[in-house]
Amino acid sequence: MRHLLEDENIDPFQIAQQAADQIADKSGVDEHQIALTLGSGWAKAADLLGETVSEIPAADIIGFSKPAVIGHGGTLRSIKLQNGKFALVIGARTHFYENHGVRAVVHSVRTAAKTGAKVMVLTNGAGGIRPEWAGGASVLISDHINLTASSPLEGANFVDLTDLYSKRLRAIAREVDSSLDEGVYVQFRGPHYETPAEVQMAKTIGGDIVGMSTALEAIAARESGMEILGMSLITNLAAGIQSTPLSHSEVIEAGQAAEARISKLLAEIVGKI
Ligand code: HPA
Repeated sequence: MRHLLEDENIDPFQIAQQAADQIADKSGVDEHQIALTLGSGWAKAADLLGETVSEIPAADIIGFSKPAVIGHGGTLRSIKLQNGKFALVIGARTHFYENHGVRAVVHSVRTAAKTGAKVMVLTNGAGGIRPEWAGGASVLISDHINLTASSPLEGANFVDLTDLYSKRLRAIAREVDSSLDEGVYVQFRGPHYETPAEVQMAKTIGGDIVGMSTALEAIAARESGMEILGMSLITNLAAGIQSTPLSHSEVIEAGQAAEARISKLLAEIVGKI
């Protein structure tokens, strides 16, 4: 089915505003201060953040579609944090590989900005290039390389991406866990995993993490004026770094094994933002 945001004649920012208005209406929360996209393995963090005051099926909100992949959630939750702030937890991610265009990919981020969020936390499950990250490391994203050959920005809109993944927020994360490593995230288009040669290329050009999300969302979040924290759960070592073939079930299982640990970590970090 064609996605609403594939219609070139509509204004994606207007749809994001409508989506934010619908969320305010249905949730009763006028303004969210922080938003989180929870990728593979991170979903349980929502339960630890605070008190859920509203949970809306994402498909009920304009511009959101049903999740394409089992294990990728599908709700928008408003959570009251202990410090009184409200978090919008996005459990519905549209991936670039779904072929609905980049506007659909970044709609959740633009909507989050319109709900008032000034901080965007982007999490994902990803492949690790550094062997020491075997076994489910969680890693702070320090920068990215966008290999999708696309951008969410339209027209001659020259947005600065220096310090895209906020140093301030990374420092807060390290206050919670000083052992957190950081690395450069390389977004491939997917949905196939990378070849070993592509992983070597990613390593050669400065990458540490390979995945299929996040970079395009981060660019849109910066355009919307948000501060960004990015975190990857290393669900597997990247193709050719590990000797065994990659599989989606391996990724899901690694996510489940790490879920309790990384959810607690993320909830503690969010509590300090
Ligand atoms: N590559 C790309 N995306 C992924 C991977 C990977 O190795 N693991 C989980 N998501």
